Amino acid sequence: MRVLSGIQPSGKLHVGNYFGAMRQYVALQEKGNECFFFIANYHAMTSVSDGQTLRDYTAEIARGYLAVGIDPQRVNFFRQSDVPEVCEFAWILSCLTPMGLLQRCTSYKDKLDQGLAPNHGLFYYPVLQAADILIYGSHLVPVGQDQKQHLEVTRDLAIKFNNTYGEILTVPEPYILSGAAIVPGVDGRKMSKSYDNTLELFESAKSLKKKIMKIVTDSTPVEEAKNPDTCTVFALLKLVASEDEIAEWDQRYRAGGMGYGDAKKRLAELMEELLAPYRQRYEDLEHDQDYVEDVLREGGKKARAVACEMMEKVRAATGIVVSGS
Ligand code: ADP
Ligand code: TRP
Repeated sequence: MRVLSGIQPSGKLHVGNYFGAMRQYVALQEKGNECFFFIANYHAMTSVSDGQTLRDYTAEIARGYLAVGIDPQRVNFFRQSDVPEVCEFAWILSCLTPMGLLQRCTSYKDKLDQGLAPNHGLFYYPVLQAADILIYGSHLVPVGQDQKQHLEVTRDLAIKFNNTYGEILTVPEPYILSGAAIVPGVDGRKMSKSYDNTLELFESAKSLKKKIMKIVTDSTPVEEAKNPDTCTVFALLKLVASEDEIAEWDQRYRAGGMGYGDAKKRLAELMEELLAPYRQRYEDLEHDQDYVEDVLREGGKKARAVACEMMEKVRAATGIVVSGS
């Protein structure tokens, strides 16, 4: 089973990304699938328009994924731009893409609502994503719920291509990472870099603790019973504590006599236990950028070989001739 997913380098990695995506990618690798994970730097250009920033984010994502356990021996980990054929393929797919299909994509409208400029890249985004997926003959695409519609576009385009040019493309299945709860940020809304409410994955222990101690809670007095189900601190504790400890905190909340400060202190301890080894590895990789570059280059070469094989078939079927290929 060929599993593929892309990660946009559009900001600092946070605890929500870890539980919602990164941890699950590592689990998919452990299950022995053939995994292709790549850094979607062309896609990130729709929101990052400074060259140095894009380079920095790309390097940070690479270190971050390696730090939490992506194993380049088992996974093809690469940069999207190391396979420039995806841009060629995206054009070919775009000639089969009805305007209405893209006009119906809610992520385009959402991004305009967030204040992004309505440029063509943003509109064309799902076509490039389809090219990413189809060029490697991917079977399974693990993504968050927000990407479901893009997967439907991909499937539609694969079917349309096959109907037009012959059975060349694999029609992929989405694998919605819905088992993962939405991780709340320090203000109680969904943790997101757009809300400036994140616990960053690799920030210092000191700054992490400071942010945890400032998590917004209600003003129920210490002696009164509290509702764990509506508390951000408890929601985060559930991600890092053992089953037994979660049950204990649940009781302490409901019994009263517990201050939120106690729960926050324990949360800071447990979060630090989880993140300290990742942070260490991330910092080590900062001093070993050649290694990171080698991993991406090698991953890119392997991915490109697969993509070029597909492009031979695509060009032959569509009548596109490239001298020397
Ligand atoms: P952000 O909201 O910070 O911009 P992204 O959209 O870049 O995050 O998300 C990258 C991946 O991390 C996606 O697969 C998304 O589903 C997951 N993710 C992001 N934030 C959360 C969260 N708060 N809880 C669970 N998963 C999340
Ligand atoms: N659009 C995806 C996101 O924002 C990133 C992405 C780009 C992707 N190409 C992909 C995901 C191909 C899966 C497959 O999260």
